[in-house]
Amino acid sequence: LEFDLGQIDLGSFDHYMLKEIHEQPQALRVCLKGRIDNRAGKVVLGGVQPFARELARARRIVFVGQGTALHAAMVGEYVMEDLAKIPTEVEFASEFRYRNPIVEEGTVIVAISQSGETADTLAAVHEGRDRGATTLGLVNVVGSTIARDTDAGIYLRVGPEIGVASTKAFIGQVMVATMLAAFIGRRRFLSQEQLESLLAAMERMPDHIERVLLQSDAIRDATSRYVDRENWLFLGRGVNYPVALEGALKLKEISYIHAEGMPAAEMKHGPIALIDDGMPVVFLATKNSQYEKVVSNIEEVRSRGGHVIAVATEGDEEIGALCEEVFWVPEVPEPLQPIVNVVPLQLLAYHAAVMRGKDVDKPRNL
Ligand code: F6R
Repeated sequence: LEFDLGQIDLGSFDHYMLKEIHEQPQALRVCLKGRIDNRAGKVVLGGVQPFARELARARRIVFVGQGTALHAAMVGEYVMEDLAKIPTEVEFASEFRYRNPIVEEGTVIVAISQSGETADTLAAVHEGRDRGATTLGLVNVVGSTIARDTDAGIYLRVGPEIGVASTKAFIGQVMVATMLAAFIGRRRFLSQEQLESLLAAMERMPDHIERVLLQSDAIRDATSRYVDRENWLFLGRGVNYPVALEGALKLKEISYIHAEGMPAAEMKHGPIALIDDGMPVVFLATKNSQYEKVVSNIEEVRSRGGHVIAVATEGDEEIGALCEEVFWVPEVPEPLQPIVNVVPLQLLAYHAAVMRGKDVDKPRNL
């Protein structure tokens, strides 16, 4: 058995989604277990080790996935280019498989999937494989078809996900993609010092998520002030752009509120026309290389009457003074920010759906 009964039992929680949100620190601990060798200062990824040299020589990496897994793949694109300096793209598996993709020598396809059974993602793997690519699977379900049909891979090890809305799988997918980027990066340009500081930060992530979870009641109260609004925007830049997409997806799929995610800078190219008095706009505004730009986007929204709900770094008084609501997250290195930043947005979506009387674990049509 790959899991024990406690993992599929609801316990004291009202819904599987809430249980799985709270399981995230432990899920991440298991995901990391045995994969960070502190003494040698390296990432240990047994599944991809035989391909280490080939991966370090890759000319192009293409992440494929759908839905939440695609958002994790988008984070993967950022971290792979940042840490491993390999040109990386991300594609909806459903687009990749049908568009006669170019697969040159040195292309590596990385499929991300919780279930390992999503038909489009599997077909993208086959398409890549048939055109000569090396294929990797970042998959949760052991022995699933994508896990079997890829050349190599890394299991997420976050335990079974029973709620339809994906939560702990997302943080597992992002963590595993980051480990892969660090694994390849160290074989290219990432220094030992950079790697060790990243590994130490990775090991602290479960504790950070625990801190964020303590705010669940405050997040519920804040959500209750906006839960009757039918249109929401989620904005972020850089590594937080996929988090904005994920926050919007979580809200729409379980509460049926219309929500859009986009890069914060894109807002002024049209969507800003939507902002009127009291529209909730959720900003990912943690301290990183794009912070100042995000602050000016927040000011643009505020000046048009939008209500800003921010995810911000603990102790950031500037954001505290500027926004109606703030969900605080601990300070972590930029590549790891999606792992903590997504958590308040999962809770926001959960509380909104419960307040609206929706069946959180079995959303309609899914
Ligand atoms: C969203 C959600 C879906 C899945 C998508 C891919 O909460 O669950 O968007 O992420 O259907 O599924 P997997 O990861 O199993 O390939």
